[in-house]
Amino acid sequence: MTELVERARAAVLDFFRASPDEYVAIFTPNATGALRLVGEAYPFRAGDRFLLTFDNHNSVNGVREFARARGAETTYVPSAAPELRVDDDLLDRYLDEVGGDHHNLFAYPAQSNFSGVHHPLEWIDRAHERGWDVLLDAAAFVPTNRLDLSRVHPDFVPVSFYKLFGWPTGVGVLLARLDALERLERPWFSGGTIVAAFVQRDWHHDAPGAAHFEDGTVNFLNLPAVEIGLRHLGGIGIDTVHARVGALGTELLETLAGLRHANGAPAATVYGPRDFDRRGATIAFNFLHPDGTIVDERFVDRVAHRHKISLRTGCFCNPGAGEVAFTISRETLVGGEFGTGMTLDDYVDAIGLPSGGAVRASLGLASNVGDVVRFGAFAAEFVDLARVPDDLPPRTGC
Ligand SMILES: Cc1ncc(COP(=O)(O)O)c(C=O)c1O
Repeated sequence: MTELVERARAAVLDFFRASPDEYVAIFTPNATGALRLVGEAYPFRAGDRFLLTFDNHNSVNGVREFARARGAETTYVPSAAPELRVDDDLLDRYLDEVGGDHHNLFAYPAQSNFSGVHHPLEWIDRAHERGWDVLLDAAAFVPTNRLDLSRVHPDFVPVSFYKLFGWPTGVGVLLARLDALERLERPWFSGGTIVAAFVQRDWHHDAPGAAHFEDGTVNFLNLPAVEIGLRHLGGIGIDTVHARVGALGTELLETLAGLRHANGAPAATVYGPRDFDRRGATIAFNFLHPDGTIVDERFVDRVAHRHKISLRTGCFCNPGAGEVAFTISRETLVGGEFGTGMTLDDYVDAIGLPSGGAVRASLGLASNVGDVVRFGAFAAEFVDLARVPDDLPPRTGC
C-alpha cells in the first residue's frame, strides 16, 4: 500500500513538473478538500488580508469564513463584462494594498469554471513580489492545459483527479510549496497526522511533510488509479488535448455566434470571450427568444437530455462571475434578502433576474467532432422558439 501511494505521489509531482525539493503532494478527497486544508490552517490574524477575484468557485469563496473567524479582512477584485477578465492595473492596485508584517493570501482560478477565461499565471510572481501567498485554483485548468510548476510557483494548488481522467472520483491533491506549508497551522490532529500523542499530558508531535495533512487512512485502493490516469493522459499528451479542445471550442463558439432567428436576431449570447483567445473550452451562454429574452435554462436542460447532452445550468457554484455576467449590483443583492419560506424561484423573481442563470457546455479529453456536430443540432432547436412550456420544475439550487 505504502509503495503504491508513494508511487502515485511521485507521479503527481512528475506530471506537474514539481520538484520534490520545492513541492509536496497531499492527497485529499477532492479539490474542495484541498481548499479546506489551506483555509482552516492558513494563519489568518487581525490585520491580515484575504484577496480573491469575483470569479471563483464557492469552495474558494468559502475560505472567507475562516478569514472572518480569525479577524482577517476579505476583499474581492471585480472582473468586467463582456470578457469577464480582471484589469491588470486594477489588480496591481489591490495587490499593492498589503500590510508589511502580515499573512496575506491571494486566491484566483487559472481557468474560470464559469466563463473558461484564463487568468494570467504571471499574477503569481506579481503577488509574490508584493508579499502575498498565492492560492492558484487549478481544478478547471489542469484537465486541458499544462500547469508546469517548474516555471510558475504558486504556494497552494488544489486539483480533483476525476476532472482530468474521469475515474476515480473522491481523490484530489493539494500541491503545496514546502516553505508555505510550514506557515500553516492545523486546527487539530488525527490518526495519521502525528507521530505520537499522549492523553495524560496535552502533547502531540506532528508527522513530517504530506502525512501531517492527510487525515486518517488515505484512499489507498483508488490512489494507484491516479498513476494510471496520469500515465494515460501523459501518453496522449496534455498539449494535444489542449490543442484539440481549442479547435472544438472554436467550432462550438462559432456555432453559437451563427445561430440566428428568422427576424435576424441572435438566438444565443455567450458570457466571456467570444473567440478562443486566452480561454479554455468551458463556454457559458444562454439561448435567446426572437424577442431577445432569455430562454429558461430549465427548458434548455430538458432539450439537452433529449439529445443525450450533459450540460450544467445556473451559476455553476461561481456566483461572482454570474453577478458580473448578469450585471447584478450589490444593491440588488442587499435589497432582495432570501426570506424564510421563499423558494429559489421566488428569489430569482424578487431580485429581477431574467432567468435562473446561464447554460454551460464543456469540452475535454473525451470530446470529438461528432459531439460538436450534435451540439449544433441541439442548438438549432432554439431557433425561432417563441416560448417554453409552463410545466418546468422548480429550481433547487445554483
Ligand atoms: C475551479 C473549480 N474549483 C474548485 C472546484 C471544486 O472541485 P470538487 O467539487 O471536485 O471539490 C471546481 C469544481 O467544479 C472547480 O471547477
